[in-house]
Amino acid sequence: MPYGCSVPLREHGASRPPAALSAGERLVALSSIERLVVERTDPVLGRCRYVAVSETGHVGQPILFARRGEIFDATIENSLPQPTTVHFHGLAMPERQDGAGFDPIAPGGRKQVRFRVNNRSALYWFHAHPHALTAGQIYAGLHGLLVVTDEDDDAVDAALDLAPGNRLALALADARVSGGIILPYAPTADDCLRGWFGNRMLVNGTPDARRVVRPGWVRMQILNTCNAHGLCLAFRDEDALLPFHLLGTDGGLLSAPRELDRVFFHSAERVDVCINLAGRRTVTAVSLPFDPRHQVKGPAPRHMRATGEGYVSLAPAAVCEAGTGSDARYALPDGAELPIFTLSVRDMPARPSPSVPSRLSALPDSAADRAVASRRIRLDFDPQSGFVIDDTPYRVDEIAFSVNRGMREVWEIKNSPISSPHPMHVHGFGFRVLRRQGTYGDARGLRTESGSRLPTDLGVKDTVVVWPNETVTLAVDFSLPEQADFHGRQRYMLHCHNLEHEDAMMMRNFAVL
Ligand code: C2O
Ligand code: CU
Ligand code: CU
Repeated sequence: MPYGCSVPLREHGASRPPAALSAGERLVALSSIERLVVERTDPVLGRCRYVAVSETGHVGQPILFARRGEIFDATIENSLPQPTTVHFHGLAMPERQDGAGFDPIAPGGRKQVRFRVNNRSALYWFHAHPHALTAGQIYAGLHGLLVVTDEDDDAVDAALDLAPGNRLALALADARVSGGIILPYAPTADDCLRGWFGNRMLVNGTPDARRVVRPGWVRMQILNTCNAHGLCLAFRDEDALLPFHLLGTDGGLLSAPRELDRVFFHSAERVDVCINLAGRRTVTAVSLPFDPRHQVKGPAPRHMRATGEGYVSLAPAAVCEAGTGSDARYALPDGAELPIFTLSVRDMPARPSPSVPSRLSALPDSAADRAVASRRIRLDFDPQSGFVIDDTPYRVDEIAFSVNRGMREVWEIKNSPISSPHPMHVHGFGFRVLRRQGTYGDARGLRTESGSRLPTDLGVKDTVVVWPNETVTLAVDFSLPEQADFHGRQRYMLHCHNLEHEDAMMMRNFAVL
């Protein structure tokens, strides 16, 4: 069965959030939203936010939740001085609702958006996606979480016997922070090549994040929403790395949990993990040092920096023009060790912890054997055009290829040896990772699964990291829901989710007929 189709429609009222989900966060039911306002809150530093308006009031930077099958039906209002869109990353959407940048909302404009959540339970997210302005807007704060639940998800919480507050939804974004201030987005030519890296990690918008939890299992659904930073997540008590379980990835639960001491996930990828904190007091989540193998050298070609020109910037700072290098005071290199957040265990007598269930969900098979077409996709660096997919920089009006709906394809994405890691994302469709070949460096040590895959490759994915020199083979299922708004040709995108690469046109459109 495809990952996104045939779910019962839920018409009646908004669902409730998962009982264990930390209530300190700004939880809003997706289906209760009447207006979603996109606004700039600080014209000096260029900070922006989403405001969800419903019958019960206004919530800034909400964390949304929905039951599978629920409907979002709201007006998006753009109060920014720039065009914007709202893209719900990971959801199966008709083109008109996908927010993919084909029809940006002009400053002062609005758009009615209506869609049904067809996908499995998982952590999804929504973010700005106006072509060439995406990196600056997401860095400015225009990203949010959407927790989708269903019966499989309920069963996990119940089996782990999660205490109230012991389920967390976390968005991790690195930022350049100086004296408590988040510096505005102003990448140099070098930043545009490798990505905009920060010196501090923001968790749901704030640095030095700490969460107080109770003893027993803690379940965390975590999004990497860094512009360009890959994370090798581990949990530490003093010097010891604690074991944890990977429960799910971008598109929901695995069939069975996987015990790990670290998990790598790149920009836009998500992990769903649980860790037993019985007998612990303070646990730190860190990104362990690793070598990301940015093999590409030299400053970005000029065109990579020109696309955002002509728009008012969010903050009065130059974009992608000021010199080379990266400001070492505020930017740690990709792969440097970085503290992420702290879990403090409230002193309480622990109940005995149940064991992690051995089955989590019925993961649809990858159906690679029924695939009709094999498609090769090449990722390259060219000193004239920058990072390109099949030698072609993005053009809004181009369709790279077309696929018939309901078809399955096997894709081989091959990255050049003299390139950077590219977290490649497909709009609209979940896929499965079949194998990795040609992996070098630290990334080799992360391949603990069959087919030289990473643990995150075991689940349904919408974004997958392709290291320099690597070939990653995927099975993509192009089934679309039967709903009327999916009738007719639908355009989607394939792009790198390193946001500097994306804005520099490492993106192609494809059509589903
Ligand atoms: Cu997360 Cu094209 O998007
Ligand atoms: Cu997307
Ligand atoms: Cu890239």
